[in-house]
Amino acid sequence: MKAHADDLISIRDMLRFAVSRFTEAGLAFGQGTTGAVDEAAFLILESLHLPVDDINPWADARLTKAEREALLARIEERVSKRKPAAYLTRKAYIQGIPFHVDERVIVPRSFIGELLFSDLFGGEGFTLVPDPSSIGRVLDLCSGSGCLAILAAHVFPNAEVDAVELSPQAAEVARLNIAESGYADRLRLYEGDLFQPVAKERYDLILTNPPYVDAEAMEALPPEFRHEPAMALDGGEDGLDIVRRILAEVPRHLNPGGGLLCEIGRGREILEDDYPELDFFWLDTAESEGEVFWLTADKFGR
Ligand SMILES: C[S@@+](CC[C@H](N)C(=O)[O-])C[C@H]1O[C@@H](n2cnc3c(N)ncnc32)[C@H](O)[C@@H]1O
Repeated sequence: MKAHADDLISIRDMLRFAVSRFTEAGLAFGQGTTGAVDEAAFLILESLHLPVDDINPWADARLTKAEREALLARIEERVSKRKPAAYLTRKAYIQGIPFHVDERVIVPRSFIGELLFSDLFGGEGFTLVPDPSSIGRVLDLCSGSGCLAILAAHVFPNAEVDAVELSPQAAEVARLNIAESGYADRLRLYEGDLFQPVAKERYDLILTNPPYVDAEAMEALPPEFRHEPAMALDGGEDGLDIVRRILAEVPRHLNPGGGLLCEIGRGREILEDDYPELDFFWLDTAESEGEVFWLTADKFGR
């Protein structure tokens, strides 16, 4: 089903067409958006340089002919190349904070973003970190675009934040985002393998969203996810190769009272079987259940 630019007058018309087109084409979602409506709204609003959080205020706004043609071309590109919208717009947001993205990095979507901005860090009631200003040093392992390191600099106002990324291409994108973040004076990026560039350092908080897709799921990845760097996804046979390496090394890098916040996808049962001595504390978000754990230094006997 193709459309002519003259058929689609308003943003609502364009949204309706894009949703039909995406659904008809059987696209896959989950790279910063959760379905066809969400993806179409993001693609349209970001392409028009409008705030991406709510399409309703603009729904009845008429599009210029040039805008209609440009949007139709993007919608077709989304379908024909099966590229996630964020790679077409070169932008993604976590908690309203914009990040440059392109195919050198995975599209930012870590559940850790939502957790960092939740009451778990400095809120009323139950918290993991009651006073965010008490955090002096943070490490973001496997930092990709640098998104979690930058969010950490935002949430922990006194923290010096280190980020480590193995891919030189991803590190280029992180450097760009760090420069634009307004926190460059507190952020340091290292290129290297997990803890190797920070071998002697200790932290109050270690964040990580490592590659954790298992071999079976890697084989079955929809085309959209094949645009992302394989090394950002591939976690080995059961998805937990890198998580195990992190768990082996993390006790040497946490200050007393510190903690590790780690996203692992669906591997909870395997991890609990492998590490019966570790008292993982599992966290849920709006879109996930038990895919992120928290472990404090004392659980490793520190
Ligand atoms: C799932 S992505 C997460 C990126 C970013 N933290 C985010 O949440 O969007 C994992 C990242 O880890 C990097 N990576 C893979 N193996 C690594 C290693 N051994 N040491 C450091 N980074 C690694 C990948 O290049 C990729 O950028």
